[in-house]
Amino acid sequence: METRILLKEDQIPTHYYNILADLPFAMDPPLHPGTKQPIGPADMSPIFPMALIEQEMSPQREVPIPDKVREAYAIYRPTPLIRATRLEQALKTPAKIYYKYEGVSPTGSHKPNTAIAQAYFNMLEGTKKLVTETGAGQWGSSLAYACHLFGMECTVYMVKVSFYQKPYRKTMMNLFGAEIYPSPSNRTEAGKAILAKDPDCPGSLGIAISEAIEEAVKTPNAKYSLGSVLNHVVLHQTVIGLETQEQFAVVGDYPDVVIGCHGGGSNFAGLAMPFVRDKINGKNIDIIAAEPASCPTLTQGKVEYDFGDTAGMTPLMKMHTLGHDFIPPSIHAGGLRYHGASPIVSALVSNNLVRAEALEQLEIFKGAMLFAKTEGTIPAPESSHAVQMAIREAENAREEGKEKTIVFNLSGHGLLDLSAYEAYLNGELQREEREAEVA
Ligand SMILES: Cc1ncc(COP(=O)(O)O)c(C=O)c1O
Repeated sequence: METRILLKEDQIPTHYYNILADLPFAMDPPLHPGTKQPIGPADMSPIFPMALIEQEMSPQREVPIPDKVREAYAIYRPTPLIRATRLEQALKTPAKIYYKYEGVSPTGSHKPNTAIAQAYFNMLEGTKKLVTETGAGQWGSSLAYACHLFGMECTVYMVKVSFYQKPYRKTMMNLFGAEIYPSPSNRTEAGKAILAKDPDCPGSLGIAISEAIEEAVKTPNAKYSLGSVLNHVVLHQTVIGLETQEQFAVVGDYPDVVIGCHGGGSNFAGLAMPFVRDKINGKNIDIIAAEPASCPTLTQGKVEYDFGDTAGMTPLMKMHTLGHDFIPPSIHAGGLRYHGASPIVSALVSNNLVRAEALEQLEIFKGAMLFAKTEGTIPAPESSHAVQMAIREAENAREEGKEKTIVFNLSGHGLLDLSAYEAYLNGELQREEREAEVA
């Protein structure tokens, strides 16, 4: 039996898949924060290059991937689809569990899929520097790498709590030539305003986004780059799901359950969108976004227009949100500490095409440990939400005696997150989560 399903370099997708072409409902447009009218390309041009703005709004089903981007993808793509037979045996489940492993990228997660595309399109339009935010550092290090590939400078605002939890992410960003600052910082008006109210603020992705946009707008030849949430990011990430479908075709299988962890929605959507298309066309698939119980955007957020950042600088987007001033507890899955969600994923949840589940930090580390011990790969704390969700589904299959096929996205490895595992092994995580709940 084949357990590692590999594709060749020439099977890297030639096009991204745009779900907007196939949605059976209309999306609510993003609104200008001042006029509250739908925004147009000109409103976004101070922060994004035109090619990405076009992709953001494109109704085209297939969006070509430029050769230079496919060449850069070939450094690590196609990524493997792996059958987790040892995990299946440990769970004594009749379910087949597969995972798409995005941790083989240079920076260890799915983030380069969009970082490379964004850096490339910016470079074509003469951008000299990209400014961004990062949570756990996976996105910041990926953009640092991509900027280096295409000869651009890069500045990263890293959420303060993660900056200190994951010091080697900073080293990685520096190695690729990026500058990095803990956020909130004194470098921007947005950061100063937060620090004036709370000098010990642990930071949040919303605050770091405000700081990055402010610096991008004030710096000549600089643009802003976002690692999740937006339509063009979801679009770039569909290489994950497109390859996965090819890989299932190789082994003659097809999933009943598709799972991704959910922060802003990009790795989940990247795997899920080609399957959502099949579901719209009549396939019976359970598609699950797994989020942290401490930042339960999709399961407890309201669906309304809200800002993507804390200072209110972004367009208003219709999405599930916990409120743009929500500061989540300092969990180790820093990349999932986001108050909002991709408007596409939100709309799919609202229209019952995908569903969401919230998982506790301690439960996900238990699942991650079992995965590491059986499959040998240590998952990122973010990805561990998908791991644990897959374990739950496999256990359900065992209880029901059903032979299900489950696929999840292992969005990154946890080799730079070992401090989180150390805290778990030392029994410290329980304390942290309780404190966070009280705070
Ligand atoms: C490994 C990993 N998975 C998932 C995420 C969550 O982001 P998204 O929901 O955009 O995939 C992050 C974010 O930093 C991450 O580093």
